[in-house]
Amino acid sequence: MANQKTYQRFDVTRRVEHFLLFVSFSLLGITGLPQKFPTVGISKFTTNLFGGIEAMRVIHHVAAIVLIVLTFYHIIVAIYKLFVKQEPASMAPGPKDVVDGVQSILYNLGLRKEAPRMGRYNFIEKMEYWAMIWGTFIMALTGFMLWNPIFTAKYLPGVIIPAAKMAHGWEAVLAIAAIILWHFYTVHIRSWNWSMIKGHMTQEQMEEEHILELEDMAKGTYKAPSKETVRKRMTIFIPIAVVLTLFTIFIVYAYVGIEASAANTYAPVEENVPVFVPRTPTPLPIAAPTAVPAAATTWEGGFAALFDQKCGSCHGEMGGLSVATYADLLKGGASGPVLVAGDAAASKLVQVMQAGGHPGQFTPEELQSVIDWITAGAPEK
Ligand code: HEC
Repeated sequence: MANQKTYQRFDVTRRVEHFLLFVSFSLLGITGLPQKFPTVGISKFTTNLFGGIEAMRVIHHVAAIVLIVLTFYHIIVAIYKLFVKQEPASMAPGPKDVVDGVQSILYNLGLRKEAPRMGRYNFIEKMEYWAMIWGTFIMALTGFMLWNPIFTAKYLPGVIIPAAKMAHGWEAVLAIAAIILWHFYTVHIRSWNWSMIKGHMTQEQMEEEHILELEDMAKGTYKAPSKETVRKRMTIFIPIAVVLTLFTIFIVYAYVGIEASAANTYAPVEENVPVFVPRTPTPLPIAAPTAVPAAATTWEGGFAALFDQKCGSCHGEMGGLSVATYADLLKGGASGPVLVAGDAAASKLVQVMQAGGHPGQFTPEELQSVIDWITAGAPEK
């Protein structure tokens, strides 16, 4: 096996491209996941490792720009190869890929004797490639919206920003999972495929995964166009490439420079400042209205609204304690009930509120009415 023939699969530029993709993608994942899951221990560790959230965001943005430029470069090269050199569109998906996919499954299940015969890029590689392209497009688009939210909300409804945040975060989780489970499996576990590092592939691997390409090579199916043709096509390609390059520069400028958002126009808030302390000591001219009517005695008669307003933003439908409905509140959180009807002192929610410092903290009056309500058996109606 050691001396078997090898075939050039990726030239140096392709391998460098893949390396930059690997670096930028990994950096985006490493600096992005802690922003999606900020309360997880490893996220805090990673954030500290990068020198805090501000620095981590800068790295995330730099990696994003690298990936965007890389993608445009890739598109320009693709146009060159397909149009000027008229190389076969080996990444284009077709009906044969569906057939290959089905046949592969049947073969792996032992229901078919022969494995499908596949070309330069087999259906697995095509799926990965197009998922990558599509994913990058989604991430670049939603990333732009998150990077420039004020600008975006000028032209689109504001609800697009939280929607973009959702899409960006979960598409990232999907992409990372796909790379770890799928890409690593096909390229490193099923068989070691070095072609993106060394550039070539062994005869055995070629026969197994790209037999049709081998046959095409032997037949010499691809004929490079004549110098004259290349020259003619170049006169069309060069303007396109110039326009795309200028467009890339414009896009990068748009990402980085279009908006001076709150994140960089306001000085970062000092750390360990108590939450919800008014910045000016001046008392408000009127007493802030309490959410619960003084006479409220039931869940439906006021406490539902109070809990929703003060606690609902965190204790919603996301797991753990929820205050969305009466039943949810009675059910309690991960560590059990937080409300003991008739016994305010034993109710964890009262304890948490009395200890103070919890976000959304009830005012003393609100807390007193909650205690009275619980003492009265916490009636629903
Ligand atoms: C800014 C987000 C936020 C707000 C607003 C908030 N909490 Fe919490 N609360 C948390 C987090 C985070 C935890 C810890 C995780 C958990 O137990 O769900 C927690 C835990 C609790 C617990 C302990 C739950 C358990 O299972 O041990 C109680 C009780 C609680 N909160 C009550 C309240 C009440 C009452 C309000 C409204 C006055 C409120 N919280 C508002 C974030 C919030």
